[in-house]
Amino acid sequence: MRSFQILATLAAIAWLFACGKQRTHETSGSTAQQQTSQQVSDPKLERGKAVYDETGCATCHAIAGIGGRTGPSLDGIGKKYDAEKLREVLLNPKTLNPNTVMPPFEGSEEDLDALVAYLLSLR
Ligand code: HEC
Repeated sequence: MRSFQILATLAAIAWLFACGKQRTHETSGSTAQQQTSQQVSDPKLERGKAVYDETGCATCHAIAGIGGRTGPSLDGIGKKYDAEKLREVLLNPKTLNPNTVMPPFEGSEEDLDALVAYLLSLR
């Protein structure tokens, strides 16, 4: 009788272990999937994010809490401005504030386009 109890306990432990493992596996599986879908979402957004990083916008601006505090956080900037207004701000930041420390964007038209698309995606 006692050996049956031990067996039952072992079986229960093994079952719990298997479940736990499966759950961990499912979670990491779906995270990997999300990351992949983000990565392949849109090459233009990827380029825009790269331009943002390369241009050093993050020295002054934070997105999702990461970056500097000289300028305002850019969380939700895609809801605040449309593409036209963003281009204007990037090419001539003085339209926001004549004494701004923000430098005008000097990259190519293509990079500006990608950068604006990236900023519009921040909602
Ligand atoms: C030297 C610091 C600095 C850098 C670098 C900088 N900015 Fe700014 N930015 C500012 C400041 C400060 C403001 C707020 C305007 C003001 O009052 O001067 C601003 C404003 C903005 C705004 C408008 C925000 C709002 O809510 O109205 C956007 C969009 C923006 N910056 C995007 C960028 C992007 C994209 C880059 C990189 C290409 C960049 N900035 C680089 C300092 C900077």
